[in-house]
Amino acid sequence: MGFYEDYCLPYIVDKACGAAPAQEHRRKIVPMAEGRVLEVGMGSGHNLPFYDASKVDFVWGLEPSIGMRRRAKKNISQTPIEVRWLDLPGEQIPLEDNSVDTVLMTYTLCTIPDWQLALQQMRRVLRPGGKLIFSEHGAAPDASVLKWQNRITPYWKILGGGCHLNRPISQYIEDAGFNITLLETEYTRSTPKIAGFNYRGLAKIS
Ligand SMILES: C[S@@+](CC[C@H](N)C(=O)[O-])C[C@H]1O[C@@H](n2cnc3c(N)ncnc32)[C@H](O)[C@@H]1O
Repeated sequence: MGFYEDYCLPYIVDKACGAAPAQEHRRKIVPMAEGRVLEVGMGSGHNLPFYDASKVDFVWGLEPSIGMRRRAKKNISQTPIEVRWLDLPGEQIPLEDNSVDTVLMTYTLCTIPDWQLALQQMRRVLRPGGKLIFSEHGAAPDASVLKWQNRITPYWKILGGGCHLNRPISQYIEDAGFNITLLETEYTRSTPKIAGFNYRGLAKIS
């Protein structure tokens, strides 16, 4: 990894993901997490303040980037919740089958190179009856916005650590064998439409 990936990108991602509109989405879904939680692509820990600590046993923070893990120190120091780091990507979740009560994934599915394998891994570790909670940006429903998402993504992902603007998030989740039980979608306020179409909800293993 180079200087850009280790230092510049974590700084940019931390600032972007900490923006107020993203925090508003987190507030609506993160408190639903309970038990043994796996956060996929935990980044700098922006979800930590939104957990209901009385319902969470601990959080496995799966995060392959050392720069992002470094950036998480402040959020970890301010939460009573125990964070257990897993320094691997979502395609290689090093946990037992059925060992997780909640998988939480926020603004990460846009970035995972092999998203199918990663979602399979999330299914594998999630216990029957457990839930996947997600808040992700992705493909917009308006053809005029989607056209620009498709045009810009090849350049955007080079600077954005692999982030795709145009992934159809709910379709990917359903294609991986999850049953979406709650889905809310909207353009995020104060955010350019190409990066701001939010998919937020809950899914279970179907
Ligand atoms: C835009 S950030 C979101 C961070 C955090 N989830 C949040 O909501 O603030 C995307 C994160 O996914 C991580 N990531 C990149 N490739 C990944 C992979 N293959 N599996 C899991 N996470 C990955 C990045 O290092 C980064 O921390």
